[in-house]
Amino acid sequence: MPLLADLNKADRAAFVAALGHLFEHSPWVAEETWLKRPFASAEALHTALCATMRAASRDRQLTLIRAHPDLAGRLAQQKKLTAESTREQASAGLDQLTDEELAVFTRQNDAYQAKFGFPFIICARLNAKSAILTAMQARGGNTPDQEFATALGEIEKIARLRMQDILKS
Ligand code: GUN
Repeated sequence: MPLLADLNKADRAAFVAALGHLFEHSPWVAEETWLKRPFASAEALHTALCATMRAASRDRQLTLIRAHPDLAGRLAQQKKLTAESTREQASAGLDQLTDEELAVFTRQNDAYQAKFGFPFIICARLNAKSAILTAMQARGGNTPDQEFATALGEIEKIARLRMQDILKS
């Protein structure tokens, strides 16, 4: 596990090797944030990573949102998630659904995707199964712009927890 001091001294490749997975399938966030080193604290590193994401084009942000797997979706059932996603979905109990619960998730995921054109994003480690389903229902009534903004906010929370997992203090 690296210390922040190690990351501040790391070359670009090592920096991306350590942090490239914080944003799902999107190592470009770490790659571009490397230019902003050194970071005074873990919080400053997270802020810088999020600023990189926020400064990206809307297209790139959409691609980042779309890089996330559905919760209890097809990739999860086929066990094709990244290691981090597998852990995140399990922490919300999504790997232990009954057939009925799975059917509800599938229906809700499909309805959300059909309305917004991207998957439903919520930080699974901060929400239990029932809270996720409630949020899916409630957020389905939002506008695409509201959901786009909410998705980026949740991605920041996911990245913070992933960073805390790997950073030794
Ligand atoms: N899709 C929706 N929520 C999450 C999450 O917390 N982690 C990952 N990897 N994908 C998601």
